[in-house]
Amino acid sequence: MKTTLNINGEMKACDADPATPLLYVLRNDLELNGAKFGCGAGQCGACTVLLNGEPIRSCVTVLGAVPAEAQITTIEGLGNPGNKATGANSLSILQNAFIQEQAAQCGYCINGMIMTAQAFLNKTPDPSEAQIRSALDANLCRCGTHSRIIKAVQRAAQQIKQSVPKTTLQSTTSGELA
Ligand code: FES
Ligand code: FES
Repeated sequence: MKTTLNINGEMKACDADPATPLLYVLRNDLELNGAKFGCGAGQCGACTVLLNGEPIRSCVTVLGAVPAEAQITTIEGLGNPGNKATGANSLSILQNAFIQEQAAQCGYCINGMIMTAQAFLNKTPDPSEAQIRSALDANLCRCGTHSRIIKAVQRAAQQIKQSVPKTTLQSTTSGELA
């Protein structure tokens, strides 16, 4: 069945059964391989994408459950993809912070961590360490790089705070900051 999805601001058509997990549609039909298959059971967070700004587990969200007007954001949609053409850094503040803190070991969990953290920072731009820990609690990292991941989110929060005027920061609730 033909379905059209709004992904990273672009309308994408696919021809998958409505019972197909969104993760499979992203990876197999739309060549968006940022979201990873970890457990396939909603338990690890490797497949996290944003649905209208909220993190969801795309391995247990079937295509038919995605509202027609919904905006889906994958890790490919963060940052400034247009910069790739100019050779400029196209990554978001948060993605760069993960690199600067060397937060990835094998990297398998990282895209899901970043998507969860992005949604969290959009709502909580000045988080405490406890809030970051709590927000990422359900995203699993088998390599155990949690302390660096937390530092990366702290670094991003700090940089976002420095780069955005206070009034904007207070009034922004969507993904505009990074
Ligand atoms: S692969 Fe979706 S939560 Fe683990
Ligand atoms: S860096 Fe390997 S699973 Fe997290």
